[in-house]
Amino acid sequence: MDYKNILLHVEAPVGTITVNRPDKLNALNAAVMAELSCALDEMDSNDAVRVVVLTGAGEKAFVAGADIGELAKMQPFSGRKDSSYGQEILFKIEQLGKPVVAAINGYALGGGCELALACDVRFASEKAKIGLPEVTLGIIPGYGGTQRLSRIVGKGRAMELVLSGDPVDAAEAYRIGLVNKVTPAADLMKTVREWAERLATRGPMALRLAKAAVQKSLEIDLRDGCELESSYFGMLAGTADMREGMTAFLEKRKPAYKGQ
Ligand code: COA
Repeated sequence: MDYKNILLHVEAPVGTITVNRPDKLNALNAAVMAELSCALDEMDSNDAVRVVVLTGAGEKAFVAGADIGELAKMQPFSGRKDSSYGQEILFKIEQLGKPVVAAINGYALGGGCELALACDVRFASEKAKIGLPEVTLGIIPGYGGTQRLSRIVGKGRAMELVLSGDPVDAAEAYRIGLVNKVTPAADLMKTVREWAERLATRGPMALRLAKAAVQKSLEIDLRDGCELESSYFGMLAGTADMREGMTAFLEKRKPAYKGQ
């Protein structure tokens, strides 16, 4: 695909997707969403990429939301369709067979917050402001925000954020568990890269199934979840990665995983 609103950078083992509309604070219009969808597929199928980082271009914003110019034109049926379409793209992040880390370098509002919520882990710069201001525009979050936020920070805090529409700063986001780590702005990408590189030393097949198992944990009951865990555990026993990981330990060397 010929990307116009997204930058794709692969520096193995990390692949970075940057939403690149800084003059509009990286707002998600239809073109960005279509490109994001393709970029996620590309990262998923590129074996050199073990961990994906998602961030926004410029100094100010991760993503300041869905494009309000486009939202303003929606009608009931098109609104429903756009919401479902966006949700499916964010599901791709959860279903991607490798970890996805959000590097929140500034405003993560509305659809930007929802994008970060769909990522597996969120690192934020001290300058980040995160929230779901949709009610201030007379709408509600439409890319899964009402559902994922409560799963991450609990129902009470999710209600507070969704009903008020007020953003939180990075320190508060960390306090309530909305982000995993906060760094000085200048250190964000370096910190994310270092962490991603650490993940990339882990068994790729194990990462894939560990992610899938944790994803399912809040959707199914404990007994079914544990059964799924046992299946994945057993599946990994048939992989070359498992043999390599255990042999490397016994031979006192670092494992060289192939993702097989
Ligand atoms: N959709 C479309 N355009 C957006 C946008 C969005 N969600 N967020 C920012 N922009 C555009 C602005 O319209 C402006 O464009 P212009 O220069 O052509 O006028 C540009 O990005 C810069 O934004 P600006 O508002 O001038 O920056 P600011 O520093 O004064 O304020 C924000 C930053 C994030 C507080 C403010 O842009 C904002 O409130 N954005 C909307 C956030 C939102 O409600 N998101 C949820 C949508 S459902």
